[in-house]
Amino acid sequence: MMGRTLGHYRIVEKIGEGSAGETDAAGSHGRSSLRKGKRTMEKVLVGYYSRTGNTAKMAKIVADALKKEGIEVDLRTVDQIKAADLLGFDGIVLGGPTYYGGPPAAIKELLDESVRHHGKLDGKIGGAFTSSANVGGGNETAVLGILQAMLIHGMIVQGDPEGDHYGPVAIQAPDARAKANCIRFAKRLASLVKRTAAG
Ligand SMILES: Cc1cc2nc3c(=O)[nH]c(=O)nc-3n(C[C@H](O)[C@H](O)[C@H](O)COP(=O)(O)O)c2cc1C
Repeated sequence: MMGRTLGHYRIVEKIGEGSAGETDAAGSHGRSSLRKGKRTMEKVLVGYYSRTGNTAKMAKIVADALKKEGIEVDLRTVDQIKAADLLGFDGIVLGGPTYYGGPPAAIKELLDESVRHHGKLDGKIGGAFTSSANVGGGNETAVLGILQAMLIHGMIVQGDPEGDHYGPVAIQAPDARAKANCIRFAKRLASLVKRTAAG
């Protein structure tokens, strides 16, 4: 086991499980859209957990809308995502059902694992969405629970003055209102990713 300190985060890691110096699959620590000085398509990860399929539907809508905006999208369930994978994207969107007013454990687990790369997600674009059973069932706090971790990573999160303010929320399966919010969210996120990647 080795220990190191990133800011005030003390990280204990097993030798061979990766370090702050490791590169992602793209061989880049930085923006995936800039490799060897050449601009490629901006890449966004849409990661989700869904037990009964409602959040999965939202994830698909968000992913499809991002693709329509010319973004390269990786749509994966959170169990298919390793913390190191997060380094290879310009934008990271995570969604899951609202569980007791917060994100589900599977998403929290990924966020907790991401401490291994603390400081390396700084400046990436973040976003979150959720499905809950009830209006007032804690869906906004669930979204904020994800965004909170993203902000601590130094990620950039854009609110929305007109759509769902913190990120898209659905009551059970996404209805027409929630679908429209997922698409609006994706369009805004794509625009932000492109603008920051260009800067
Ligand atoms: C363990 C557990 C906790 C839940 N907690 C809440 C809750 O706090 N508020 C709420 O509105 N719905 C809650 N739900 C309902 C789910 O958020 C809701 O059914 C959601 O649409 C499921 O999404 P999925 O189909 O993507 O799994 C809970 C469900 C489970 C299984």
